[in-house]
Amino acid sequence: MKILITGANGMLAKEVREKFAEGNELTLTDVKDLDITNEKNVFEFITNLKPEWIINCAAFTAVDKAEECYDLADKINGDGPTNLAKAAKAAGSKLVHISTDYVFGGDLSLDKDYKEDDPKKPVTVYGKTKLHGEEGITKNLDEYYIFRTAWLYGIGGNNFVKTMTKLGTTHDEINVVCDQHGSPTYAKDLTEIIYQAINKKIPFGIYNATNEGYTTWYDFTKEILAEQNIKCKVNPVTTEQYIEMMKVTQAKRPYNSQMSKEKLKSVGINVPEWKDGLKRYLEEAKQNEE
Ligand SMILES: NC(=O)c1ccc[n+]([C@@H]2O[C@H](COP(=O)([O-])OP(=O)(O)OC[C@H]3O[C@@H](n4cnc5c(N)ncnc54)[C@H](O)[C@@H]3O)[C@@H](O)[C@H]2O)c1
Repeated sequence: MKILITGANGMLAKEVREKFAEGNELTLTDVKDLDITNEKNVFEFITNLKPEWIINCAAFTAVDKAEECYDLADKINGDGPTNLAKAAKAAGSKLVHISTDYVFGGDLSLDKDYKEDDPKKPVTVYGKTKLHGEEGITKNLDEYYIFRTAWLYGIGGNNFVKTMTKLGTTHDEINVVCDQHGSPTYAKDLTEIIYQAINKKIPFGIYNATNEGYTTWYDFTKEILAEQNIKCKVNPVTTEQYIEMMKVTQAKRPYNSQMSKEKLKSVGINVPEWKDGLKRYLEEAKQNEE
């Protein structure tokens, strides 16, 4: 298959490139080669190339920074996917796009999780711009998959697991937020979901796509350290306490990021547990060090 991967230097893209390398003709672009905010260039590039699939891994992912740069974030997360969808329609291409739990309000009670069609209520600039991107696709294209993920970590990027491993080995105790709930997601597992979706030709549409099971950043950290036998005391703190202690200003974080994977599973996609994903990530990270 002829596949165009945009944002090809990013964390998720690195996994996607590896997974799809065999047996496919890949075209890899990042902002320097194809800026997805440039409507004219995107249209020309895609209608010339005519890929069967476009996998869009490009995004403005700095959630806190986005609060001060609405226009840029909206261009990349909103206009960019819209441009790709319009060009895909003209070229006869299908589109895979990655969205986020931040399109929801994040204030659902914890006995519930978000279903794909639940009302959208983004409260951050990042969330609003990512919702704009989703709408740009659904309005302009029929043949797409939008996978909403969360708490993503992968070998090829700076991520929470790396940060906590480093803090755990250099500190006797650390404070970690215990009142945000969601699903840590290994980029390799999200890539496998994308791969299976394309190969099994599951129905087009929007799917929640994280690892299975729910936890908090606090419990996730305890698991990260325990798996590596790192002795460090982990103190649970509330988001409010954390902001006060660290003297940081940050975009509002969702209290509840829990997203149901029933839709994905109902079309025959396997969704591994987050603890299982973490184990495999740590094994791979260790092998890369050796
Ligand atoms: N990291 C997370 O925790 C998380 C959570 C939920 C959803 N997501 C989504 O998953 C996807 C992948 O995230 P990631 O962490 O791999 O991202 P990343 O930040 O590692 O990579 C993004 C890539 O996009 C490129 N890019 C930026 N602007 C561009 C432009 N105008 N044109 C072309 N390329 C451009 C960057 O150069 C970079 O290589 C994104 O859509 C993100 O919104 C991520």
